[in-house]
Amino acid sequence: MTLGLTTQVLVADASAIDAAAGCFAGGGLVAFPTETVYGLGADATNSRAVARLYEAKGRPSFNPLIAHVADLAAAEAIAVLDSRSRTLAEAFWPGPLTLVLPKSQDCPVSDLATAGLDTIAVRIPAHPVAQALLRAFGKPVVAPSANISGHVSPTTAAHVRSDLSGRIDMILDGGPVHVGVESTIVSCIDGPRLLRPGGAAREAIERLLGEPLALVQTPFADDDEQPLAPGMLASHYAPRARVRLNAENVAPGEGLLAFGPTLPEGHERAGAVLNLSERGDVVEAAANLFGSLRALDAKNVTGIAVMPIPQDGLGEAINDRLRRAAAPRP
Ligand code: TXA
Ligand code: MG
Repeated sequence: MTLGLTTQVLVADASAIDAAAGCFAGGGLVAFPTETVYGLGADATNSRAVARLYEAKGRPSFNPLIAHVADLAAAEAIAVLDSRSRTLAEAFWPGPLTLVLPKSQDCPVSDLATAGLDTIAVRIPAHPVAQALLRAFGKPVVAPSANISGHVSPTTAAHVRSDLSGRIDMILDGGPVHVGVESTIVSCIDGPRLLRPGGAAREAIERLLGEPLALVQTPFADDDEQPLAPGMLASHYAPRARVRLNAENVAPGEGLLAFGPTLPEGHERAGAVLNLSERGDVVEAAANLFGSLRALDAKNVTGIAVMPIPQDGLGEAINDRLRRAAAPRP
């Protein structure tokens, strides 16, 4: 289904960025690159635009969104930072970390975007196109991943186009992203807690804070699914093909998502083989993850067998997304 819009795809140069800022000002929807994944942006202060955004994604529910701003001063206009959140902000922003903070008193962000909560998720993206766009627009932009609800997140403009063409106003093409998994979300409400592993490694955050981070499942596991019932593992980031984790062999016709230099038994008969990182580097693997899932899915394999991925660094986020991709579907 399309919403019948003409979606402009523009190379993200200075004039395209100005056009995109104008589009936001008119209540439009623009997909743009961040260093983690492509986001689908809307003026965070415009409830109608935010409502259009949920509709374009085909989202099952109004989960709260991340407000993206250009710098710390803009973050402080919408949220309250204490000394600990300021330490995190100064170390990781701009970058792949989202902080959940108390909303500021005069926070102009639409209640629809924050799902009526008195807290707000804030991030300063590092990608030069995202930075330039936020500066040109001058207001906070809410942006979930620019995919149809339930699909894997887009890491190229082509992924965005295949999901959202006809449903949004504009796509800024800034090439493939560098990180490849969504931002790490840390809640600074009731002490620091890890709500979602992501592009900023847990170890680096813990080192800075000098304490371990508890991983807490929130009712909003991700933007693309229903709030979770306690104990339920969410099915998300789902390719069409069944995903099998920690595979030590490959069945004939199965797609192999490999990691490292040594392939498992049966790989010669695999329907297709893609290696996330031949040299066994989790950072490189994160950047290749979503694109590889899409590519294997497109090859009509009978299923996707995924080799074990180490849990350290960005491995935690990769394994989190793979578990969701492998979870039973509704
Ligand atoms: O890398 C990213 O974070 C990407 C790029 C585009 O910036 N964005 C992204 O947005 O992944 P999304 O919509 O998938 O993540 C939003 C998630 C919500 O589903 C929820 O888990 C959490 O952020 N969130 C937002 N507001 C929150 C709040 N007030 N309290 C707790 N969690 C919140
Ligand atoms: Mg998403």
